[in-house]
Amino acid sequence: MKIGIYGGSFDPVHNGHIALVRDALASGFVDCVIIVPSVKNSFKLNSMTLPAPYRFYMTKAVRDSLPEKDGGRSIFVSDVEFGIKGISYTCMTLELMTDPEYMTGFLTEQGVKKKKAEGPHEYYWIMGSDTLGTFETWYKPEEILRHATLLAAKRPGDSVDVDKAAESIRENLGGRVETFRLNGVMCASSEILKTGDFSQVPEAAREFIATHALYTERTKLKGVSDKAKERFFESAVWMYPYLGEKRLLHTLNVGYLSAELAVRFGADPDKALIAGALHDCAKELDIDSQREMAADYCGDLFTDKKLLHSPAGAVFARDGFGEKDREILDAICYHTTGRGSMSALEKIVYLADKIEPARTYMDLEPIRKAAQTDLDEAVRMTALAIKGKFDRQERPTHPSTVDMLRDLGIK
Ligand SMILES: [Fe+2]
Ligand SMILES: [Fe+2]
Repeated sequence: MKIGIYGGSFDPVHNGHIALVRDALASGFVDCVIIVPSVKNSFKLNSMTLPAPYRFYMTKAVRDSLPEKDGGRSIFVSDVEFGIKGISYTCMTLELMTDPEYMTGFLTEQGVKKKKAEGPHEYYWIMGSDTLGTFETWYKPEEILRHATLLAAKRPGDSVDVDKAAESIRENLGGRVETFRLNGVMCASSEILKTGDFSQVPEAAREFIATHALYTERTKLKGVSDKAKERFFESAVWMYPYLGEKRLLHTLNVGYLSAELAVRFGADPDKALIAGALHDCAKELDIDSQREMAADYCGDLFTDKKLLHSPAGAVFARDGFGEKDREILDAICYHTTGRGSMSALEKIVYLADKIEPARTYMDLEPIRKAAQTDLDEAVRMTALAIKGKFDRQERPTHPSTVDMLRDLGIK
């Protein structure tokens, strides 16, 4: 097969990206296009606004919404860069993707018939005209050209002379460069974020953005240090193999909301961001591992299967991710049950877990409203609602929860 690979940050994915993919397919140079959302992009290290899993799943949601007849069947999204430690340079991404075993496995998973998936394949690295102009300054451009032909979009009125740039790459680096005509709409992610006009963002992505309350004041992480932001981004990549889409995005949402609540109520936003983000990190580990980790953190305090992931999460965050801060680990440990004499940080993670934007299990508006002004009242309302649910199910109340309820004056 002739395989086009299209990398980018997709922050957010927009109609210009989709048009470019469609026009690349229509050009006949490629049979399919694999979109690769970057994990840690060398060009945008500090300007990327969302952790990689959001951008990956948002792009996937758009791909899944494309009609099959419209080329949707030939467009895939790859998570290959989650496997690269540190900065993901294009040459590394290509090195991994052009491995015959990887590509056969990937294409088979996408529903491509085995014989076709096995190749041999030819690879094309798809790019916009603007990036072609700077290609010679990229990291190891010869390596890139060894793996793939460059396939550059060309549009009337381009600021870069594509033919000249292509010729220069052929002459200086001896690479193969092809061009195709781009008819699609003009738009840029940076412009969308600057103006707040999301009309060029496909509906599936807009829904995704609304569900998780992305690109809001909250996700700007005001009051959070750059170091904590970086650690938050890293935690998202670290958790990716251990959690499914829903759980991973939930736990990251809790990180964002916890940081916002910490700023509002005078707790440490750096710690809140990390504790919230990691709170469910152990939730999908096998139950025996969870039991062992839980016992390591607090003996036999937790035995109920549904609760094990909380103390286990503290140990997994500590030993797996290297989080050593005891306040953060405790906030993770008690996020399900609460406990007596809770710190503000513990209350915040407890609360954020129950009311992050993607939560829909009950009418959360009254609690979300209380969380605008009064942390203790919001925690009290949450505990009361959970107690009511447990009482109806005749489930026993955990001793730590009994202590929390007593502190909150709930009988
Ligand atoms: Fe949990
Ligand atoms: Fe949770």
